[in-house]
Amino acid sequence: MIKLTDTIKNLPHSPTLWANDLVHAKRSEGEMVYHMGFGESSFPVPERLRKALATAAHRNNYLPADGLVELTDAIKSYYRPILGDEYIDKTDVLVAPGSKLVLYSLQMAIEGDLLMPVPSWVSYEPQAKMLHTDVIKVPTKLDDDGYHISAEDLTTAILEGRKNGKNPTKLILNSPSNPTGLIIPDDELKAIAEVCKNEGVMIISDEIYGFVRHGQGYRSIASMAPDITAVTTGLSKHLSLGGWRIGFGFIPKGIDGLHNALRCISSETWSCVSAPVQHAAVEAFKGHEDLDKHIRACAEIHGFMNQTVSKGLQGYGIMAPLVQGAFYNYPDFEPFREVFAKNGIKTSQDIHELLLNEYNLATLPGKGFGAEAEVLTLRLSGCDYDGAVALAAYQNGEVLDHDFIEKYAPRVLKAIDIFGEFVKKYGQNSASCAA
Ligand SMILES: Cc1ncc(COP(=O)(O)O)c(C=O)c1O
Repeated sequence: MIKLTDTIKNLPHSPTLWANDLVHAKRSEGEMVYHMGFGESSFPVPERLRKALATAAHRNNYLPADGLVELTDAIKSYYRPILGDEYIDKTDVLVAPGSKLVLYSLQMAIEGDLLMPVPSWVSYEPQAKMLHTDVIKVPTKLDDDGYHISAEDLTTAILEGRKNGKNPTKLILNSPSNPTGLIIPDDELKAIAEVCKNEGVMIISDEIYGFVRHGQGYRSIASMAPDITAVTTGLSKHLSLGGWRIGFGFIPKGIDGLHNALRCISSETWSCVSAPVQHAAVEAFKGHEDLDKHIRACAEIHGFMNQTVSKGLQGYGIMAPLVQGAFYNYPDFEPFREVFAKNGIKTSQDIHELLLNEYNLATLPGKGFGAEAEVLTLRLSGCDYDGAVALAAYQNGEVLDHDFIEKYAPRVLKAIDIFGEFVKKYGQNSASCAA
């Protein structure tokens, strides 16, 4: 009998892609579904990049396994003022079909176990499992000031991990964060960098939402520990180019042989990112003013939509810190725990299922982000609107206010109302029993 490996047999479908497939299936049957389950920025491809891709369509050669030199040079120049001269000089670039593959390859290349803050993006842990390594969870605190990982908790996780026979060697950070929409403050990044330097732990800083910030400039841990930090990012979020499948990483020369190892992984797996896409992507790093404006406008709309969700949920007594970046909220229904329990709602999965079955509102349970099943959190993406129409309206001078969201993102508004109906029905003492 031909069998699957144990590793793959037990691997669930990525919850985000699962939610997306489910919503598309329901919608194709004519159902009205409110989709907060998938974080896909829906803004259109900027004209300049469309043209560049069309112009590059004839490019049919394989390219170097670590990326087209013209592209890696352009990436370095673009990020030099952002990540700093020292960091850029101390790193090499690797281009891959999405930063997801850079993250996977980094996990593959570095021996040992992964330190992962909770909550964290859905794919880090399954990637570690696919590579037969362990995940050591690091607790975080979320409040209105951001997404906090204390140096003490990190140190404890490292030391406890070692005591338990694990080998913590790599820490993954993601700020602005998916799922929380929050940012790690600078002083805390510095403290984390110090712990990692002292303990010999590499930092993998996932900065895919680096340009989707609501009110603050780009922040990175890179310059605080340049010899041991890899930054991963790409074009999927701030330029809404997820389907182009292009991402890249800055790989520290300070970790001997790492860049070469990643180049080998690339050469034995994806070979190179599609040549037309790499040639077209060069345009994204030339500092064109029209692209900068586009990126800013999209970030502002994301900020407006998702902060409206935070405020709406706060109005219903749900814990939902005002998002600071990315396009997610990570509300916590802890204030309703007792009454929810009387109504049979005990886990994030219970909340997720009720919202889907009763209100056709797709969300993701906090469990998928590393939280314990009983933690009453959801991950919500505020992207369920036509980005092309909303962006055109904003560029034509329409103001980001209640009328704007009512006109261009009515499903986002309705989703907020649904949370109101939900907590009224299940979060108040007189609530009826959930089946
Ligand atoms: C936190 C985070 N990191 C990485 C990725 C991967 O992005 P890509 O592979 O499209 O570059 C995503 C995409 O959803 C994400 O949310």
